[in-house]
Formats: sequence, C-alpha cells, structure tokens
Amino acid sequence: MSEDLFKKITSHAKEYGFVYPSSEIYDGLSAVYDYGPNGVLLKNNIKQYWWKAMVQLHENIVGIDAAIFMHPTVWKASGHTDAFNDPLIDNKDSKKRYRADQLVEEHLAKIQAKIEKEVRKARKRFGDAFDEAKFRAEHPRVQKYTAQIDEISRKLNDALANNNLPALKALIDELEIADPVSGTRNWTDVKQFNLMFQTQLGAVAGSAQHLYLRPETAQGIFVNFNNVLKTARVKIPFGIAQIGKAFRNEIIARQFIFRMREFEQMEMQFFVRPGTEMEWYENWKEKRMHWHRSLGFPADFYRFKDHEQLAHYANAATDIEFRFPFGFKELEGIHSRTDFDLRRHEEFSGRKMRYFDPETRETYIPYVIETSIGLDRMFLAILSASYKEETLDDGSVRTVLRIPAILSPVKVAVLPLVKKDGLPEKARELFDRLKWDFQVQYDEKDAIGRRYRRQDAIGTPYAVTVDHQTLSDDTVTLRDRDTMQQERIPAAEIPRILNQRLHLKAWLD
Ligand code: GAP
Repeated sequence: MSEDLFKKITSHAKEYGFVYPSSEIYDGLSAVYDYGPNGVLLKNNIKQYWWKAMVQLHENIVGIDAAIFMHPTVWKASGHTDAFNDPLIDNKDSKKRYRADQLVEEHLAKIQAKIEKEVRKARKRFGDAFDEAKFRAEHPRVQKYTAQIDEISRKLNDALANNNLPALKALIDELEIADPVSGTRNWTDVKQFNLMFQTQLGAVAGSAQHLYLRPETAQGIFVNFNNVLKTARVKIPFGIAQIGKAFRNEIIARQFIFRMREFEQMEMQFFVRPGTEMEWYENWKEKRMHWHRSLGFPADFYRFKDHEQLAHYANAATDIEFRFPFGFKELEGIHSRTDFDLRRHEEFSGRKMRYFDPETRETYIPYVIETSIGLDRMFLAILSASYKEETLDDGSVRTVLRIPAILSPVKVAVLPLVKKDGLPEKARELFDRLKWDFQVQYDEKDAIGRRYRRQDAIGTPYAVTVDHQTLSDDTVTLRDRDTMQQERIPAAEIPRILNQRLHLKAWLD
C-alpha cells in the first residue's frame, strides 16, 4: 500500500460524498472534517454495529450519553489537567512545530527500514534457502541496527516516563535529527503542551468558569458510576458503553481523518472485582478482535501491540493495530485501568465510588477494563481496506468499495433497465416496499452499466434490476457487487434474501 493509494482514497471520499474538509469555502480548517451523505450513513452503521455488539448482545452492558462539558474538577481527578501533554519542539528556521517523541520515532523507523532492506536483499540472494529468523538474529549489520534501535528506544522511554524534557532534547541533538522542512538542527527546547481545549461557561465578566471540551468520553462513564449502579440493576461484572465526541488540540494532525482535533470515540468501561482484571483483560482483547475480524477483512490486517510504557493508570495495555495505507497504526486501545479513575473521583468529590458485592459480602472500588476505539479511525480503516481498482475482462477498470455489506451506506439499489415501458413504475413499487427496512437508492439515469459503477463506487452490495421480463413474471435480477454475478429471482423474495444476508447474526455470531 502506498501514499498514492491514500491520496486516491481521500479524493474518492470527497468525490462520492463520504468526507469533506470542514468549512471548505473558507479554505478549510486544519484537521477538522465533515461527513457527507454517504459518510454519515457509513458512520451511523459503524456506530450501530459497535453498539449492538456491546450493549444489545451483552445483558450486563448498558449505555449512557453524557454531556461533552463536565465539571472542571473531573479533569484534575483524572490527571488530564496535569498530565495530558505532548512534548513539542519548534525549529527556529522553518518555524514548524513537531512532537519531539515523534521526531525520535521517525528516526527509529528509518533505522528499521534499513533492517528491512537488508532482509529483502538477502531473501532475493538466498531464495528458498533463506532463514529469515536466523538472518535477523545473526547478521552483523542487522545486529548493529537492532542494538541502535534498542538503545534509542530505551532513552526515549526513560525520558518520557520521567517527564525529562532536557533528556528528550539531548536525544534529538545526539541523533542529529534535522527538520524535514528547513533541513537544519536549530531547535528550541522541548516544552509540554496540554492537549485539552479550553472554553468558558457563563456570560458575566470575571465570574466565568473555565471548562474543557472532554478529551475522552471515558470520564463521563466514571462520574456516572453510582447513578448507573442505582438505576440499572447491574451487578459486577458489568459494563457501561458510550459513543460521543472528544476533542484534542493535536500538535500535528495529519493523515486525513486518522488524527483529528474533533473526533468520536466508542468506549466501554467494564467494572470487575479486583484481582480478576487480568482474566477480563484477556477476555476483552479476544472479544474485540473477534468484532474486527467479523467484518471479513484479511487476518493480517490486524495485530496486537502491547504497550511497553504504561500510562499512569494502567497495569496492562494493548492496541489493536490496523494496516492503514501508511502502515500499521493504532485503531483501538484496550487498557486494564485498575481502580485509578474511581479512586481519584472518590478523593476529589468526597463521594463513595464503591460496590457492595453480595457474593463476597465485601465493599470495594471496582477495577476497570476499558475498550476504546475511534469511530473516525474505524471509518478510515474500512474505507482504505475496501477501496479497490479492478481490471475487468473487457479491459475497463472499475473502482469499487468492498465495504462489508452490514456497514454499507446504501444496502440496495433499485434500477429500472430503461426509463420507459412501465419499468420505472414497477421499480418504484419495489423501492417503496424495501425502503421501510433498508437504505435503498432508486436510480433511472444513464445506461445500466454506468449505474452499476456508481453503486460500486459507494459500496452498495446489491442492485435489483427491473426489466421487461419483470412485467410478465414478476422476477428481477439481483446483482452482487463483489462477484458482479446476477441471479434471477422472484421480486417477492428480495426482502427475505436481504434480511438474511444483512442480519447482525450472520456477521457477528
Ligand atoms: N479513554 C482512553 C483513550 O482515550 P486513546 O488511546 O487516547 O485512549 C482511544 O484513544 C482511541 O481514540 C484511539 O485508539 C483512536 O482510535 C482514537 N483517537 C485518539 N485520538 C484521536 C484523534 N486525534 N483523532 C482520531 N481518533 C483518535
């Protein structure tokens, strides 16, 4: 996969009404995007797929929808006011701003690329006899590069863990990292930059309260722990799920909707008895990977990446990484968050955040397993894995989005073969029958081949064509987007077939 492919995906997303730059008539707003008519359908379908998998299919998970504004003490308690920072550095010549840790990581990626180049060369040279594991472990140059990576990673992790900004700057100097824009090494010191957006509540001058736009949805769940406990008849282990907007003033926001300043998260906090958290952590890792894999993309598009450096609140953490066009990157985080958040809220609010366990007759602050996935990032994962340019038998090229049918914006297109002879009326009848259950599109403009291409380009999995035979025997053709095969079936059968193929159970079970 390449940068070129990524460019094609972003322009396809715009051309077909999935994603637009925000406020485009004013030249856009950096790292903020709007979703168009097909984009909002896809996004809502992803939300539904997650929500049903988490809430509807789990008796012991309930949902909430907390406000974006929260009492400012929430962020003191959660640690975000003091520690939700990125280390930034400016180049004095280009005046460009970078994340200091990312500059080092990019340097590490370059060394890693050298290793991969050695491996590729050796594979070519030795052919079938090539023992890759042995080569990686023993080849002197690969060993040298690996040692460099280990040493730099150790220094980077130490500096980040100890919040040692001079050490981070020293590392950038030591590695002679130059600004990709100016090419110089004329850097400022490294400074911490808090990622939360601030705003004000209240109109009276002087009495306004400083608020933050929430940087994660999770805290809305923690502060409602007691409310849910009292009102939802839940018993440990149980979960609270939420989908909502989050805001982060990312220093560098690029790669389209991968890293945005306003985005949506789908988060679930699962409350468990202390001491059982590792079991549940493993359980949720498996469940979440199953959810991803249920969509049918190749298995090698996903991998777990355990965190080496744990956040202050976690005792285990992993990312589900996805193979984006620009490489493997985090799609979802799964954290064992201990009792950190509830304990801190208890401390800061003075309210008990505890659970009386009727089985053990103990009262305790529950431990928490969190699953947290970015909705926009999931959208990008689907778009980039679905986008295909296929050369057909007649030599023409079709652009098709092989979006998993359960998530496709439009489920079925209803197309009269021609715009006369009573076919549009017949097709409209079918459209009216289907629209109660499915997102349907009626299209009679242009030749049928062009209409199929339009549907392929937005990922519509099925197209029903009404032709002259329909008028005599009430049969239609059902076209499959991926195989392009058409089967002739009674029109009355279409709702049943679609229901069967688009049923949640057919995908998730
Ligand atoms: N409550 C835990 C939490 O917020 P995180 O790893 O910072 O953890 C979770 O974020 C997920 O949210 C990430 O895996 C990613 O999918 C998404 N996410 C985070 N920052 C994002 C951004 N700036 N733009 C888009 N998605 C983002």
